[in-house]
Amino acid sequence: MTGLGAAPRLDAQPTQSDESPILKVGPYLQAPRPDSITIRWITTVPSYSWVEFGETPDQLSQKAHRVNAGLVEANNTVQAITLRNLLPGKQYAYRICSKALTGFDPYKITYGDTFTSDVFTFTTPSADADRVRFVVLNDIHDRPDSFAHLLQLPELPEKDFVFLNGDMFDYQTDEDQLVNHLLKPVTSLFATQIPFILSRGNHETRGKFARQLVNYFDGHDQPFYYSFRQGPVYGIVLDSGEDKADDTPVYAGIVDFDQYRLEQAEWLKQEVRKKEFRQAKYRVVFSHIPLFYSGDWHGPMHCRKVWGPILNDANIDLLISGHTHKYGIHPAVKGEHSYPIVIGGGPQAGRRTIISVQADKAALTVTMLNDAGKTVGKLTV
Ligand SMILES: [Fe+2]
Repeated sequence: MTGLGAAPRLDAQPTQSDESPILKVGPYLQAPRPDSITIRWITTVPSYSWVEFGETPDQLSQKAHRVNAGLVEANNTVQAITLRNLLPGKQYAYRICSKALTGFDPYKITYGDTFTSDVFTFTTPSADADRVRFVVLNDIHDRPDSFAHLLQLPELPEKDFVFLNGDMFDYQTDEDQLVNHLLKPVTSLFATQIPFILSRGNHETRGKFARQLVNYFDGHDQPFYYSFRQGPVYGIVLDSGEDKADDTPVYAGIVDFDQYRLEQAEWLKQEVRKKEFRQAKYRVVFSHIPLFYSGDWHGPMHCRKVWGPILNDANIDLLISGHTHKYGIHPAVKGEHSYPIVIGGGPQAGRRTIISVQADKAALTVTMLNDAGKTVGKLTV
């Protein structure tokens, strides 16, 4: 992503979410691509929603809403509107609008108040950018205060995106948990202007609301495993699934992660053959569960079995993981993993980390800070 100098600090503008009777949370940016981005928010009441955007804050001359088979999305509360035909590496300004629907009879639709947000900006990513900077958080485990604590450590550089590397929660209960324990903190800190990626951890697969998670976040072709390109980094996001075997009684016969990890192995084989992957300056893999240093439970061992040989042959520069709650930087080990593995800590105070990655033509540098802001690990590729 270019336009780095313009990236806002984390303590930038809060949203109006607390004052508004229509906005529940947001906006938050998802799925940044060179030519598109998805803007999401949640309303408290069914609404018709749209985005006004343009190249400068005083010229929001374009409008986008969502259309499904001829019907403009309306009478819903979970809003996701994709802006298309954008230019790479360019800053845009936008605001969100939601008009409450107070009546929806077959031949009489009635509107109530309209909410209009502040104007925010974002910058589209670019594969041509000279550098990319991002931070990684993992294993927050339903401690929403950790977002502000870690993201506001003064030593951190500005960033192009934030990567949430799994286990933001203990298990999924309902929408309010998503809102209060993730979306409100990240929206007030950065997500109105800087996108985030949610990589699923094993704890996001648990609980009665786990199957609805997909309705609130955007991956790419698949919701939880895909690749992305930003500046000199080619990123691969893998979904390591559960940590125990599929037939473990607590899963009650309704998970199938072995097959899902095999599906990802087939995709990964194709991915590492791509010219863009091979020619990228750096190849970075994200997996909540690390393939090593995570004991001999079924999940990590199966990840190692089905993905390990592919990654070892793919000239990977770095694997970034969490899950173990024990932070560390593990150099490559011949015959096991041909790439270094960085594992973030968490979730209790004193064990939390934030991983900062900066990559340019000269080097990719990883710095791990603990929650006191002290550097506890450093790696240069
Ligand atoms: Fe985990």
